[in-house]
Amino acid sequence: MERQPDDQAAIPEASAVPDAAVSVGDLEALARERLEERTWNYVAGGAADEISLGWNDAAWRELRLAPRVLVDVSRIDTSVTLLRRDLPHPILVAPTAAHSQYHPEREPATLRGAAAAEALAVMSTLGSTPVAELGIAAGGPWWFQLYVQSDRDFTAALVESAVSAGAEALVLTVDTPLLGARDRDRRTGGHTVDGMQPPALAGAPPSVVVPPDPRPHQRAYNPHLDPSLTWETLEWLVDLSPIPVLPKGVSRPDDARRCVDSGAGGLIVSNHGARNLDTVVPTAQALPGVAHAVDGAIPVIVDGGIRRGTDVAKALILGADAVLVGRPAVWGLTVAGADGVQWVIETLWTELAMAMGLLGAATIDDLSADLIWRD
Ligand SMILES: Cc1cc2nc3c(=O)[nH]c(=O)nc-3n(C[C@H](O)[C@H](O)[C@H](O)COP(=O)(O)O)c2cc1C
Repeated sequence: MERQPDDQAAIPEASAVPDAAVSVGDLEALARERLEERTWNYVAGGAADEISLGWNDAAWRELRLAPRVLVDVSRIDTSVTLLRRDLPHPILVAPTAAHSQYHPEREPATLRGAAAAEALAVMSTLGSTPVAELGIAAGGPWWFQLYVQSDRDFTAALVESAVSAGAEALVLTVDTPLLGARDRDRRTGGHTVDGMQPPALAGAPPSVVVPPDPRPHQRAYNPHLDPSLTWETLEWLVDLSPIPVLPKGVSRPDDARRCVDSGAGGLIVSNHGARNLDTVVPTAQALPGVAHAVDGAIPVIVDGGIRRGTDVAKALILGADAVLVGRPAVWGLTVAGADGVQWVIETLWTELAMAMGLLGAATIDDLSADLIWRD
C-alpha cells in the first residue's frame, strides 16, 4: 500500500488475459512477470518464515474428496443467499490494499471486474480510491473493510461515508491489532513509510503503540491500526452501524460464538493470507470448528489459499457459506485490469460448477460433510 497513484507511470499497460492461460495459477505467473520485484514480493509474501502461507494452500489441497455417483447433475445451481443478497455463486473478492500498484484504474477496475463476474467485492480501508468513488464505480453489491482508527469519531465518519457510498456490510478486520513480521518486504526493499496515504484515512489521527516498534513497516502501518480494539469496540460498531458487521480474522470456536453474541452479522475465518502471525492455523483447519460453534446462526465466510474450484467446494463442504479470494484477484487486476478480475472469478466459478457435478452435488446444499474422505 506504500505505492500510491504517483507510481502509476511505472506500470505497463494492461493487456487481455492470454488465451493460453487456463487456471488461476497461470495468472499468478503472468502477474509476476508484470510486477516490479518488490511489489511482487509484497503481494506474494507472508509473515516471518511463511510457514502458515504454505499451510494455507496445502490444507485445502490435502483434503481428499469422496464423490457420490449416479446423481442427476444435469442442472447445477451454484447460487447462494448472503445477508439477504441473492448471488449466483459464493466467490467474493477479498479486501486488499492499494490497487494503484497493480493497475492505473485502481479499485474501480476491480469493482467493474467483480460486477462483470457477478461477484460481491470487499474494498479495503487502505485502498487507493476515495470511498465515495467506490460507490460510483461499483456495478454490483460491495462491502467495506474497516480498520478501526483510534479516533472513534473519525471511525464513525468513515463508516458513515461507506454507508452513504452504498456499502452493504462492514468487514471489520480483527486479526491485525499490529502489523506482523514483514521480513520478506524488509529483505526486498518494498513497502516502507513512503507514500503511505490511503485516501480513506486522510486526516486520521495516528494511534500510538507502546513501546513504538521502530522497524520501517511497523512505523508505516501501525499508526493506522488500533491496538486497543476489543469486543466492546465490536459491540460499539454493531450499535453504530446501519449495515451488518462481519469480523474478519476469526480462527477459534469460542471467538466465533462471541461474534454471534456480540451481534455480528456474519464472520470471516481468515489469517490475513498468513501475512500477520506466522505458524497460525491454516483456515481450512480452523473452519470446521468455527462453523460448528456458529451452528448456522450467522454466515461463515473463509479465505486463505483458495485457488481452485475444488478449494471452493471443500470450503462449502466444511461449513462455509462463501469464500473470499485475495491474491488471485490482484493477479487478475495486474494482468488485465477489470477483465482479469472477471476472468479469475469466472474461472473459479466454472471450476466450482464442474467440481459439484463430479461430486454428485447439484446444489450448494448438496455439498455435505460426507463428500470429504475420512480414514
Ligand atoms: C497484498 C494484500 C493486501 C491485503 N490488504 C488487506 C487489507 O487492506 N485489509 C484486510 O482486511 N486484509 C487484507 N489482506 C488480506 C486479504 O483480505 C485476505 O484475507 C487474504 O488475501 C486471503 O488469502 P489469499 O490471498 O490466499 O486468497 C491483504 C492481502 C494481500 C495479499
